[in-house]
Amino acid sequence: MTSFRPAAFGPRLLATTALIGAFALVHAAHAQTTNAPPPAPTVRTDVPADRPWMDTSLSAEARADLILKEMTLAEKLQLTFGYFSTDAKWSITPIKNYVFPKEGLPYSAGFVPGIERLGIPNQWETDAGVGVATQTVPEAARTADLPRGRTALPSGINTAATWNPEVAEAGGAMIGNEAFLSGFNVQLAGGMNLMREPRNGRNFEYGGEDPLLAGIITGHEIKGIQSNHVISTLKHYALNDQETNRNQMDHQIEDKAARESDLLGFQIAYETGNPGSVMCSYNRVNGHYACENDWLLNQVLKTDWGFKGYVMSDWGATHSTTQAANAGLDQQSGWAFDRSPYFHGALREAVNNGYVSQERANDMAKRILWAMFEVGLFDTPVKGDQATTIDFEKNGKISQTDSEEGMVLLKNTPGLLPLSKTAKSILIVGAHADVGVLSGGGSSQVYPLGGSPVADEYGKGFPGPKTWYPSSPMKGIQARTTATVTYLDGKDVKAAAAAAKKADVVVVFGEQWTGEGFDAPDLNLPNNQDALISAVAKANKKTVVVLETGGPVVMPWLSKVGAVIEAWYPGSNGGEAIARVLTGEVNPSGHLPATFPASLDQLPRPVLEGDPKLDSDSHPMSNYNIEGAAVGYKWFDKKGYKPLFPFGHGLSYTTFALSDLTATAEGKGVKASFSVKNTGGVAGKEVAQIYVSGTGWEAPKRLGAFQKVEVAPGESQSVSVTVDPRLLATYDSASKTWNIAAGDYKVMLATSADDIVQTVTVHLDAQTLDVRGK
Ligand code: BGC
Repeated sequence: MTSFRPAAFGPRLLATTALIGAFALVHAAHAQTTNAPPPAPTVRTDVPADRPWMDTSLSAEARADLILKEMTLAEKLQLTFGYFSTDAKWSITPIKNYVFPKEGLPYSAGFVPGIERLGIPNQWETDAGVGVATQTVPEAARTADLPRGRTALPSGINTAATWNPEVAEAGGAMIGNEAFLSGFNVQLAGGMNLMREPRNGRNFEYGGEDPLLAGIITGHEIKGIQSNHVISTLKHYALNDQETNRNQMDHQIEDKAARESDLLGFQIAYETGNPGSVMCSYNRVNGHYACENDWLLNQVLKTDWGFKGYVMSDWGATHSTTQAANAGLDQQSGWAFDRSPYFHGALREAVNNGYVSQERANDMAKRILWAMFEVGLFDTPVKGDQATTIDFEKNGKISQTDSEEGMVLLKNTPGLLPLSKTAKSILIVGAHADVGVLSGGGSSQVYPLGGSPVADEYGKGFPGPKTWYPSSPMKGIQARTTATVTYLDGKDVKAAAAAAKKADVVVVFGEQWTGEGFDAPDLNLPNNQDALISAVAKANKKTVVVLETGGPVVMPWLSKVGAVIEAWYPGSNGGEAIARVLTGEVNPSGHLPATFPASLDQLPRPVLEGDPKLDSDSHPMSNYNIEGAAVGYKWFDKKGYKPLFPFGHGLSYTTFALSDLTATAEGKGVKASFSVKNTGGVAGKEVAQIYVSGTGWEAPKRLGAFQKVEVAPGESQSVSVTVDPRLLATYDSASKTWNIAAGDYKVMLATSADDIVQTVTVHLDAQTLDVRGK
């Protein structure tokens, strides 16, 4: 692994006389029946006469058209070419020792120069989905302000585990605000790649394995970010579901299967969040790079879904000029990651020579301008670095709420959790739980305020440094107990077991650091941690395991331990969040957004595909038609496999009873109603899940709807949800329609994919919906 990211290689006036005539008639009739004088025309004093596009009463589209009329071809194309905003010594390009443009924000992801004479803002781009990131800063360039210390949300998968769109949106709004106050107006967030590969090193950035859940959560994150007048991406489009050979892999998948799985997730996220930009991915899909893939970009995204924003490439994912521009790529990002500055002079030449039409050049610029107007970059411009005004305390609490709602209690032995108030001694073992909590690595890395409390244990550059947030679970526990709390790092397994024997309760932390650019070799905790947990659990039955992992792991020690909490990468205030859940100050309510397999051989691809040593021009095929749209729990259902923990699973310190399920056909979908009762002793939140089942589907059932409900002890709540008609249909590629077959459909009320509480049947008539599910 080099100290930098592997780049390209590693890295329609139709006004007929009749129509005009009809309009004139209506107008005349109106004039005859109205005596009042016409209203005085509104004079907008705030719109400069030479900048009519600054009229906020106009649509983003109309404003983009107005400004476009004033632009030269060179100016239009200038918007389509972005620079990496970080110095880079490496090079696979003709540029050596790349130095970022001086107007860029130091050590950030990107910069696209604006056009001053027209007031078109610069585009200052920052990663990513959990907060304002900083790219690798060389020692010599480090200052008091670099790398930027900012608030980190818990990992994306944690936010998906909240099953709470409000939490997702609040988190997005918080990080979007920090981006704005840091001088950025584009945030490379909205990571949403379905989990087809539990070993994927970037699963922590994404929303799990289900298109509905991932789409809704990611869409709300985007909405939150953009509420700050910061454009958010939705990425990485599409099927970039593993890191190994991410620049080479050619994923094969049929249109129907893709539209019912990964693409449906993107479609729902797009409809929910209205992102200004979509970032196309590194990989190839069905023989074409995602960033020059006419099917993905022109057909599915822009035509079928009606996306009006712009497609930016991932950093190093542009491979051509004419082909990419004509296939739908609107902006080349992150020069100098690519082999050539394809959208610089070459694009101008391609337009001048007619290989790329003038109309397309206009469209490229218009899409970028549309996003800027739509999100508010012209009307509420960034004011540079105002980071000193960020309310880190308040933002830390927003992050903490996300962590607390996404933490999943996987197993509990009655009486063990929450931690007993009478325990005299608590032993804490492993994962630097005395000083902090882990984060995921790569371009999304948000640096901690105050620095990492643990020196980099990776030591090999990107996607490091392996970074910890200074929020100590141990201190959080100490503040909430009268017991003596001690810590051991767990390197000496025997010593840890001996100490465990003497303690009333043991909390052992297991960590798995994952990051961009590589996948986990397997699903075991690395560095002998499985042995450590087994030994500690053998010595003391009252062993609680807290996991800080990028995604699913196997648990060879599961039967021996008393309780397990999946805390993911819990963000800036993670230690506090963990302590509050362990001690019962917060009742856990997270549910798994992905299946935890029992073993690798249950996966569609037991052996991880690709080979890190492959040369850059090899393009191994990867067959996603094996599982097709049956991703995650759908695959497990179809195969009859029993996972370690099913999708949707999550326990609480209280108990719930779900009942009274009814389902009726409503509109084009289904409405399901039920009640949730808290049958235990403490307030809690249940994630009620509705699964649906029809014939001829990719798998026995699909998640159709969900609702997180907060219920006080002894109370009941009535809940109604609607199932999106696309989740009751199958997609037909030839006619580009979603079709609901006439027949009986099972509607299931559940607490996880494997715990169906009640089932009813609803009869649906045959229906045909358009490509947007309408
Ligand atoms: C990542 C993107 C990121 C970009 C800019 C790429 O390596 O795949 O997610 O936004 O870099 O840093």
